[in-house]
Amino acid sequence: MADVFGLGIESSCDETAVALVKNGREILAAPIFSQIEIHKPFGGVIPENASRAHLDKIPWLLKEALAQFEHPLAKLSYVAATVKPGLTGSLLVGYNTALAVSLLSQAPIIPVHHLEAHLYAAILEGKKIEPPFLGLLLSGGNSAIFRVDGLSKVTVLADTMDDACGEAFDKAASLLQFPYPGGPEIEKAALRFMAENNITLTAEESWSQKNPLPVILKDQPRVEPRFSFSGIKTALLYLLEKQSNPYYSRDALAYFFLQRATESVRRNLGIALESSGLKQVVFAGGVAANSYLRAHVEKVCRRHQAELIVPHRSLCTDNAAMVAAVGYLYYQAGYIPQVYAVASDNAFNFQPS
Ligand code: KG4
Repeated sequence: MADVFGLGIESSCDETAVALVKNGREILAAPIFSQIEIHKPFGGVIPENASRAHLDKIPWLLKEALAQFEHPLAKLSYVAATVKPGLTGSLLVGYNTALAVSLLSQAPIIPVHHLEAHLYAAILEGKKIEPPFLGLLLSGGNSAIFRVDGLSKVTVLADTMDDACGEAFDKAASLLQFPYPGGPEIEKAALRFMAENNITLTAEESWSQKNPLPVILKDQPRVEPRFSFSGIKTALLYLLEKQSNPYYSRDALAYFFLQRATESVRRNLGIALESSGLKQVVFAGGVAANSYLRAHVEKVCRRHQAELIVPHRSLCTDNAAMVAAVGYLYYQAGYIPQVYAVASDNAFNFQPS
């Protein structure tokens, strides 16, 4: 069978990325530009600045991704681009680039749902991901558990009532005066505190009882998984304003925050596994890079005899290879959804053409 070369384009938030992928699995080139330094002074992503940075960088990344072929446009079988969800201006830059490449190459555009791409990223590492499975997605913009029954057949089982998980980490880190993005800083500080106090994952119960931050949705019946992170963050704010005796260090508070956020993830994943009976979990999104959270998610999966798949760190964060990979699944299935522009909704129901 002839090799299939696909181009992936990702520009939904603060990473500009283009990838050339062979047969949906082999990454041939994946140049990426992270806008972290651009947004750092503002402590978060400024949409207009993000769009401008995408516009500046995308032609160069495209050139780099296609550099290895003499006549690259003739080689492409499809062009996959993220069309939702994301910042509208940023999505437009990626989508219009894809449109131009598609017109020049005659390769069809495959519109990609960013979250669906996250859920299948691990196939780039040769991992077998087969619906039906549960997707746990924790990122800067999302905290959700999905039931995945096939391409575009994704049901939201749990969503956040307020902040996304990564967003809450970033805000908590900012309260604790750690630099942006705060998630990795909270992790480092929490692990330092755990090491200093010989805290192990198996003996955390007493620390949970000592944790001054509240357990959110504690009395919620165990039927419907639901995330909420802003209450933990607000409690942290009040504690910081008032704390005197005991006085908690920044590392201690980072640990307490991480512990409470993780408890919420454990609880919700447990409910979803129990109620769905599914035995495969894909854990994706930037927050999946957190080793503490991952270890706890592993424990929950073991308890429910479910297999856990977590993509490598580099594939957990936003990238274009995962866009090309999920695009390949659609291409192979002959299922090219009809989308003529970036989408303002987040629904998963792409309609086949
Ligand atoms: O999926 P992602 O790269 O993109 C967006 O959704 O924008 O996720 C980024 C988020 C940020 O909020 C960041 O603080 C968080 O993931 N994150 C982490 C860690 N690494 C990244 N959160 C907790 N622990 C980490 N090690």
